Amino acid sequence: MEVRVAGVRKEFSRFPALHNISLDIRSGELIALLGPSGSGKTTLLRLIAGLETPTEGTIYFGDEDASHKTVQERNVGFVFQHYALFRHMTVAENIGFGLKVRRRAIRPSKQEINRRALELLDLVQLKGLEKRYPAQLSGGQRQRVALARALAIEPRVLLLDEPFGALDALVRKELRRWLREIHDKTGHTTVFVTHDQDEALELADRVVVMSQGRIEQIGTPDEIYDNPNSPFVYGFIGESSALPVRVEKGEVWLADRTIGLKATDVPDGDAQLFFRPHDVDLLGDCGGCLVGTVITSRRSGAKRRVELEIGGARNRVEIEIPADHPATDKSRLAFRPRYWKVFAKNG
Ligand SMILES: Nc1ncnc2c1ncn2[C@@H]1O[C@H](COP(=O)(O)OP(=O)(O)OP(=O)(O)O)[C@@H](O)[C@H]1O
Ligand SMILES: [Mg+2]
Repeated sequence: MEVRVAGVRKEFSRFPALHNISLDIRSGELIALLGPSGSGKTTLLRLIAGLETPTEGTIYFGDEDASHKTVQERNVGFVFQHYALFRHMTVAENIGFGLKVRRRAIRPSKQEINRRALELLDLVQLKGLEKRYPAQLSGGQRQRVALARALAIEPRVLLLDEPFGALDALVRKELRRWLREIHDKTGHTTVFVTHDQDEALELADRVVVMSQGRIEQIGTPDEIYDNPNSPFVYGFIGESSALPVRVEKGEVWLADRTIGLKATDVPDGDAQLFFRPHDVDLLGDCGGCLVGTVITSRRSGAKRRVELEIGGARNRVEIEIPADHPATDKSRLAFRPRYWKVFAKNG
């Protein structure tokens, strides 16, 4: 099922939680909503689910306007961070619940519900646990049951709000791979909320980066990582170093010297230079490049991370150098970013 969010604004007693959100979710796609706390991820998900109605704008399911349809009419499945299972029901009863409460005309038989519960239990790799109660499961197992329960109603769209948020890092990583596999098997249109960038980049077909109720960028994980379209996205996704620079006729200046970088598409004036700490080339002494003094240095995996002060105490950046590089504190290092981006200050 295709879902189209068109010009949606959402206010809570005049507080604008979402501004002007437009987003096309393709059928069968796994899309991640990624952003810091309070950026509007859950609000957007609840609007798609039908748990909230937009203040302005429309939500389409396929060609039909679903903005004022109920959760049941939209037939969505969802899983939340702490989606409590029913404590007094077994695993199998929990999974079958959404089918059991259907009105009689569309309710499967008891045997059919049980058969489907067992099939889903197999899919989420919990075969044999159907008679257990939620209290007898680990956190990760409970979230798998919650997912099986969401899938049981054969939803048109699957909505997941930080479903692994409460679990430890190792389990999360495992469940993330597993979710991708399930998605590929079942082919559901899935919207996944997370504030963990690794999770979003590893899991999703496309990532929607949100900030302060707005969409900053939509793209594949590669597009988002390799080509961030704003200072926010550059700073939020992956590691980055930033320097205040100036652009004059397409040439990038730091204080009173050029640094050998061109930014022909940026208007003259104050700007910000962004690059990734690992995307730099160390140089011998140079005419036009960046030169900094080593402030701190620490080992980081196979490399060494150094913090450099460049032309003034307020300008600090991190770069990665080989672990056996002889630089020590106060050493001068010359380098140039291999990939970089310049953003106009007021653009
Ligand atoms: N029912 C509500 N009433 C008033 N304000 C709300 C309500 N729900 C959300 N908000 C506000 O809307 C903004 C977006 O909230 P939302 O829950 O969508 O953020 P989020 O991106 O999911 O954050 P988190 O990562 O912390 O879950 C926040 O400023 C929040 O305080
Ligand atoms: Mg949230």
